[in-house]
Amino acid sequence: MSLKAASQYAVGAGFDRIRLIHNALPELDFDDVDLSGRFLEKKIRCPLMITAVTGGYPKAKEINRKLAEAAEKHGIAFGLGSQRAMIERPGLADTFKMRKYAPSIPIVANIGAVQLKKYPVKTIEHLVSSVEADGLAIHLNPLQEVIQPEGDKDYSGVLKAIEKTCSSLGVPVIVKETGAGIDREVAEKLKAAGVAWIDVSGSGGTSWSRIEYLRSKGAVPGFEDWGIPTVECLMMCRGVLPLIASGGIRSGIDAAKAIALGADMAGAAQPFLAALMKKRLDEELTTWEKQLRIAAFLTGSRTVAQLKAAKCILG
Ligand SMILES: Cc1cc2nc3c(=O)[nH]c(=O)nc-3n(C[C@H](O)[C@H](O)[C@H](O)COP(=O)(O)O)c2cc1C
Repeated sequence: MSLKAASQYAVGAGFDRIRLIHNALPELDFDDVDLSGRFLEKKIRCPLMITAVTGGYPKAKEINRKLAEAAEKHGIAFGLGSQRAMIERPGLADTFKMRKYAPSIPIVANIGAVQLKKYPVKTIEHLVSSVEADGLAIHLNPLQEVIQPEGDKDYSGVLKAIEKTCSSLGVPVIVKETGAGIDREVAEKLKAAGVAWIDVSGSGGTSWSRIEYLRSKGAVPGFEDWGIPTVECLMMCRGVLPLIASGGIRSGIDAAKAIALGADMAGAAQPFLAALMKKRLDEELTTWEKQLRIAAFLTGSRTVAQLKAAKCILG
């Protein structure tokens, strides 16, 4: 479903309106461009992440394995899909245990904010340790939950649950949206709660309201394009906490623009899943890395820190 064109926002994430200022005198050897860095205390070769897509059903093991192996090969971070299924059906834990396929890269565990309220911290700790993750992503999806008839609509007490998790868990907590975006006020509340990273996951890419309309009859229509475009999320949230930009990032050039707008890392879900299904994930990741490095070179940036300071114009 998420691979269909109809699952994507009609209104983009805003990257087509951003132009990085071309530097005709980069004064750099392209071979010296080095975008490596650290994320969750692990080394990465490029500030990219395959964000959460799957887990919890038999076929998901193969998908997660291929995504994890590709992330390891390219030296980028990898996010597991929601581990709720693993709590409810421990027999499916194997579909999330990817450390043996990706021994060196940052792996991020995942749970929904609404589920977080229901389980003791011990259960959440187990989710992280059993997959040998370097961090936990807590996902926010109020749009998806509220428009579907069987959705979990009680979002009260979520911030408290996040705060409790941050103070008791032994690894950093990332809070991510799932495609409708995070604004500055929410980012500041998350910072005060002890969150280490925010993945803004703004609108412009995968639209969970569109997916709900495609797969469930009772979903309330009208919210197809609801959300904060990723570019606007970055402009609002920059400087609050380290940021991952995702939601509608569709090339390494978008990723470079996201970094120039204030992100520290860029991620995507649907494009990498689609590439995997077409058996061309390796080529896709190679292209994104090259695009990111070339965009860095053409803005006179040798490092991620310099790319963060690159100038851009909002057209
Ligand atoms: C098939 C699919 C499954 C997803 N499952 C999860 C999930 O389990 N947990 C989560 O935090 N986000 C999940 N997401 C959301 C993505 O991680 C990401 O935030 C969102 O799709 C926006 O990125 P994109 O436009 O590059 O797809 C999923 C996305 C897709 C496409």
